[in-house]
Amino acid sequence: MRVNPVKRAYLALESWFNLSFGTDWNPLYHLGTLSFFLFWIILVTGIYLFIPFHASLEGAYASVEWMTHEQWYLAGVMRSLHRYASDAVVVTILLHLFKEFASGRYRGFRWFSWFTGVPTLWMVVTLGITGYWLVWDELAQYIAIGSARLLDALPIFSGAMTRNFVSGGMNDRFFILIEFLHLLGQPLLLVFLLWLHVKRLSNVNIHPPRGLAVGTLLALVALSLWAPAVSQGPADLESVPRALQIDWFYLNVYPLLEVWPPQQIWMLTTGITVLLMLLPWLPPKKKEPVAVVDLEHCNGCGICFEDCPFDAITVQARTDGARYEQEVVVDPDLCGSCGICAGACPASNPFRSARDTLETGIDMPQQPVDDMRRQTREAVAALSGDEKIVVYGCAHGLDVDRVARADTAGVRLICSGMLPPTLVEYALKQGADGVMVVGCRENDCYYRFGNRWLKARFAGERKPTLRARAERQRVCVHGAAETDLRAVERDLERFRARLALLRAEREEWVAS
Ligand code: HEM
Ligand code: SF4
Ligand code: SF4
Repeated sequence: MRVNPVKRAYLALESWFNLSFGTDWNPLYHLGTLSFFLFWIILVTGIYLFIPFHASLEGAYASVEWMTHEQWYLAGVMRSLHRYASDAVVVTILLHLFKEFASGRYRGFRWFSWFTGVPTLWMVVTLGITGYWLVWDELAQYIAIGSARLLDALPIFSGAMTRNFVSGGMNDRFFILIEFLHLLGQPLLLVFLLWLHVKRLSNVNIHPPRGLAVGTLLALVALSLWAPAVSQGPADLESVPRALQIDWFYLNVYPLLEVWPPQQIWMLTTGITVLLMLLPWLPPKKKEPVAVVDLEHCNGCGICFEDCPFDAITVQARTDGARYEQEVVVDPDLCGSCGICAGACPASNPFRSARDTLETGIDMPQQPVDDMRRQTREAVAALSGDEKIVVYGCAHGLDVDRVARADTAGVRLICSGMLPPTLVEYALKQGADGVMVVGCRENDCYYRFGNRWLKARFAGERKPTLRARAERQRVCVHGAAETDLRAVERDLERFRARLALLRAEREEWVAS
């Protein structure tokens, strides 16, 4: 299977970060939560800055200067933190966007998160613009004039903005409007967009690991002390600002006004936005079959509901007259076809019906639990050698057929989280000496929680657990991306050696 160059580059970057930060603190695995953390810094520092800030054309610049120079140790640091966290959030959002794109996590059922992410990005950018405006220095003046030109190109304003500046200049009322937007209007809209953005996901975590959060904060404080944020000269609408230092994270559109007419800039930004928003459908992705509930085998325990990463399952009152109180229902529009629910269902137990078709409470039509059991049985039967190993692998990670050989068989699953723990027991019972599960890289499951739930089930921390009769030393879990063949091969070698040792111990014990 060929990995596209964009994804290959991204995976290489991720591996490099894994070496530098470790998998738990790799910022590339926490870009969404890091963005939230940076928003917290922006909010707290923003509230602090609001107190000494003077919201008038006369007072704004002087109050910001006072904060920067007179109270540099507190208000000045707060100002710098506010600015640098705002810059950092653009970086984390763009990386988050790139990551979702490079790993193909923006199409199909994920269209909603992607589609709502795009306006979120613009909302952050416009929030930064109004922030720079409030300082009312030469840069703010440059933004004010540039924004007036941009807005005037829209039919609703048609020249009113510039006329306003030419006749009366920038007045206090307008300045207060900008302050209202920056302090209340835009943040509230942003919160609403973020809520929408993660609405279709379950168990959304908005906090990065503590170490990563503390490290990020310390780095921003150090940067704030080393290069404090400062204003440029005071705004003066009578004169043209001299050479300005542009914040390219937020203000990149304004220098374009020097070479392009505003209409063209609107066309460019609208074009990019529309293209980005339509990306999930370019080309449209075929919808995979979704999970199907079979009430005859469902006791309404709700474990599948707990484990579904995309909030596609709801629990409701029983409708079929069975003695159980509850049943579950799958919303086909929300279902990501990951199969994690099939792995969670206690009825997905291969020992339940020895010969007939194995039916379970919730199953995937494209790879039912019964198929997994048959694949396992056939794979074990075809193995030869001293250490027979079955490697279950997720379709979005390494292709496990690549590690197959006479004593090792690969069984591909939609997601490692769809593997019922009892199937591991079954594989061992059928004659396998060991079972390896290769899910996505740690902290980076294609289906959000598949590898995490699997590990928790194997560790006995989450239902359904791997029972004690499956000898733990004969089971191992590995995280791998498509490009991690060598790492998996190395782990397999170690696993074979461990199994050989177990065999030798057993033979010794039998002989004595
Ligand atoms: C304000 C900026 C943003 C924040 C704070 C943010 C945060 C988050 C968070 C916390 C998640 C859930 C991750 C998880 O638990 O698995 C998420 C998911 C997602 N985000 Fe964003 N996001 C932002 C902007 C964007 C943008 C600009 C895009 C792309 C246009 C985007 C695309 C996605 C997609 C596709 C998912 C779904 C991932 C999945 O289903 O596994 N986000 N985001
Ligand atoms: S297949 Fe995945 S997304 Fe669909 S209901 Fe099951 S756990 Fe939820
Ligand atoms: S896990 Fe299985 S038995 Fe439990 S509610 Fe879901 S489908 Fe029904």
